[in-house]
Amino acid sequence: MRFVLRSTQAASLCLLITGWWVPMSESLGWSRYAHETSGHLAEIHLSAEAQTAVEALLGDDSLGEVAAWADRVRGERRDTAPYHYVNGPRDQLRPSHDDLHLPQGTAYTAVLKYQQALRDDDLPRQTRIEALKFLVHFVGDIHQPLHTGFADDRGGNDFEVIYRDEPYNLHRYWDLNVIEPRLDRFSAREYADHLNRSYSDAQKALWITQTDPKPWVTEARRYIFAGLYPVPRHGEHEGGQQRTTPVPIMDETYRDVWMPAAELQLARSGLRLAGILNEVFAD
Ligand code: ADE
Ligand code: ZN
Ligand code: ZN
Repeated sequence: MRFVLRSTQAASLCLLITGWWVPMSESLGWSRYAHETSGHLAEIHLSAEAQTAVEALLGDDSLGEVAAWADRVRGERRDTAPYHYVNGPRDQLRPSHDDLHLPQGTAYTAVLKYQQALRDDDLPRQTRIEALKFLVHFVGDIHQPLHTGFADDRGGNDFEVIYRDEPYNLHRYWDLNVIEPRLDRFSAREYADHLNRSYSDAQKALWITQTDPKPWVTEARRYIFAGLYPVPRHGEHEGGQQRTTPVPIMDETYRDVWMPAAELQLARSGLRLAGILNEVFAD
């Protein structure tokens, strides 16, 4: 509920500024809640050295607290807008080298770029602080399957669905709603603790070693190729309104199938972020 309120506020704020309602789904990104959860989960798995280095850069802020910052500055930092996703072809699971390395950058190149910046002690302190905040965020984004989707529908932003009897889009549902039952139950920090308890030590020990972002992209895209796009249905939707064209309905059956996948992705993102930071700050 809390988040629903927040997104409504964002929409009205948009109306206020632009004088016209422009959907804010893209700029909100894989929800603030998901990013914060991933950051808090990483905190649990930082080495002592990485913890010290992170504290030296962020001061009183934690990884969870800075994780959604990149979405808030997307408007001012136009160069970073393409860093929030990495798309690939519809007919091929694995993105090509060119898909990963677009001239304007992708989420994949962003993770490499900011990791490199963090390793560079000669860079100004402010640049390295930003690099850390961007890194936390883009590791999270790559784990939202629709941030690794198709360019022609902008990662499902242009794919219309019905959610709670209202027109909605698939990307937005995945950013904001797929894990909504968790939001009603846990704060981001509690959710990170819950995820940490939900997966085995062996599983987490493997994820923390998986610091190369290239396989993450294929892994996230696998969900898209395994039926993440819901099938349009004919007939009445739940509001009782007859539709002439079939539109997919985001119902509880869909959530029961896909929430576990979204959670698994969140858990992986937290552990992999910790793995990267532990490596970066070990040298
Ligand atoms: N714009 C284009 N592709 C996108 C994606 N996969 N996610 C978010 N915004 C996009
Ligand atoms: Zn998004
Ligand atoms: Zn983002």
